[in-house]
Amino acid sequence: MPDVKRHLFVCTNRGASGKPACGARGSSELLAAVQTELVRRGSDARATSSGCLGPCFDGPNAVVYPDGVWYGGLEPADAAGLADHLTGGAVLADRCTEPPGEPGERE
Ligand code: FES
Repeated sequence: MPDVKRHLFVCTNRGASGKPACGARGSSELLAAVQTELVRRGSDARATSSGCLGPCFDGPNAVVYPDGVWYGGLEPADAAGLADHLTGGAVLADRCTEPPGEPGERE
């Protein structure tokens, strides 16, 4: 099985749903900063935008796969820490959040 590269999905939704939208709270700037950091490091990990991930009130939100690690309350200053996760697996513990869903729904 080939090495699995990590992929960061950053919610950049700007839609007006009545909830706070990540895209209006700096997530596009965060995504650009992570992408810049990955290029600087010569990493082939991925960071791309996504639509609404669900837990809007916790945003700006992002998730790393295949690890299944969720992040919330992100700021552009978190770019280096997220790049650390993507390139080496070190989780940015201060920004981790519970995955969306009911408690006990996931193992
Ligand atoms: S708008 Fe980002 S999680 Fe809903």
